[in-house]
Amino acid sequence: MLSVVGARPEFIQAARLSEAIRARHQEVLVHTGQHYDYEMSEVFFQQLGLPRPDYNLGVGSGSHGWQTGEIMARMETTLVETRPEWVIVRGDTNSTLAAALAAAKLHIPVAHVEAGLRSFNKAMPEETNRIATDHISDLLFCPTQTAMNNLEREGLGEKTRLVGDVMYEAILHSLSIAQEQSDVMARLSLEPKGYLLATVHRAENTEDPARLAGIVQALACLGEPVVFPVHPRTRAALKQHGLGLDGRVLDMPPVGYFDMLLLEQNARMVLTDSGGVQKEAYCLGTPCVTLREETEWVETVQAGWNTLVGAEPQAIRRAVTEFHPPDARPALYGDGHTSQHIVRALETYAP
Ligand code: UD1
Ligand code: UDP
Repeated sequence: MLSVVGARPEFIQAARLSEAIRARHQEVLVHTGQHYDYEMSEVFFQQLGLPRPDYNLGVGSGSHGWQTGEIMARMETTLVETRPEWVIVRGDTNSTLAAALAAAKLHIPVAHVEAGLRSFNKAMPEETNRIATDHISDLLFCPTQTAMNNLEREGLGEKTRLVGDVMYEAILHSLSIAQEQSDVMARLSLEPKGYLLATVHRAENTEDPARLAGIVQALACLGEPVVFPVHPRTRAALKQHGLGLDGRVLDMPPVGYFDMLLLEQNARMVLTDSGGVQKEAYCLGTPCVTLREETEWVETVQAGWNTLVGAEPQAIRRAVTEFHPPDARPALYGDGHTSQHIVRALETYAP
């Protein structure tokens, strides 16, 4: 089996599954090189025990067409050389789509992990990546019933399997290790529930100077410390638009997974446009204010633990003071054995 990773969330999504595959099969791990900074890539390999990639395609950054095309071409060479039984992709990045396309064209079966998510906003690059990947994949591993229903509506029901969520499984495995190993709370002199945690990187928020300025303005005057690990795309956009981080914002580079889990768990509230961070906030029992107009993780909103506010400063400020989730927080993301379910489904697959 050949597994593909390339961007930050994919390393986290891949770790448990890689271990489950390697318990019974051979795995070839391919890193596309879409993310390459130490804190966007290597740190996750170290913390999650993800094996060294067998291939690093070293693609780096570029426009959507260039990056997707370049990964596809390099992946094709790797696939011709390795001829795997399955290609496993995850999520909705350019690496996901490019690898799935390269495999499908060589008639190698593709399994898509975290399939069926939809924002119904085609302006997002990720929405195109998800739809296209789902439609060329042979097995679609869904984290939620909503994802199953989305795929059923698109005529893909027969290929779906409801397996739960790999990032929830990662939390169950890593939280106690993070609590032992991370000193982030002391290092940043933070008190539990005494700060907010923010992350921003979506194209819609970083490429639109008005939206980015609105978010930055809101973060500066929330009256509480805001821990803000800044994604490299956002760092570049802040510089380009001449925007600074003021007030009680703790501006820092991206943090490792263990620090991030503790920061999420101990925050009074999370403010984010990240898909993974919305989900992790829910799993860790931290209220989430989402800096977008829609979400793929609709169950977190329906459960009352996530609120969609967009990028307008007043709406953000209001949510930070007024949003209160209910006591109940139903389990949404499976039984914590998602990787085992995936491996079994791959083993028993009959086209
Ligand atoms: C990508 C994914 C997005 C995912 C996110 C996770 C696509 C279309 N988008 O967005 O779905 O949520 O990863 O973080 O695939 N950069 C660095 N160092 C790095 C990586 C990136 O400096 O290690 C900078 C480069 O200037 C680059 C920019 O960040 O141009 C954007 O990186 P890219 O991978 O294209 O998109 P992300 O915004 O990271
Ligand atoms: N994450 C991290 N350090 C950070 C920000 C995020 O370890 O500084 C982790 C986070 O805990 C989650 C994943 O990265 O597991 C989410 O990735 P990201 O927000 O980049 O992408 P998305 O989930 O939106 O695709």
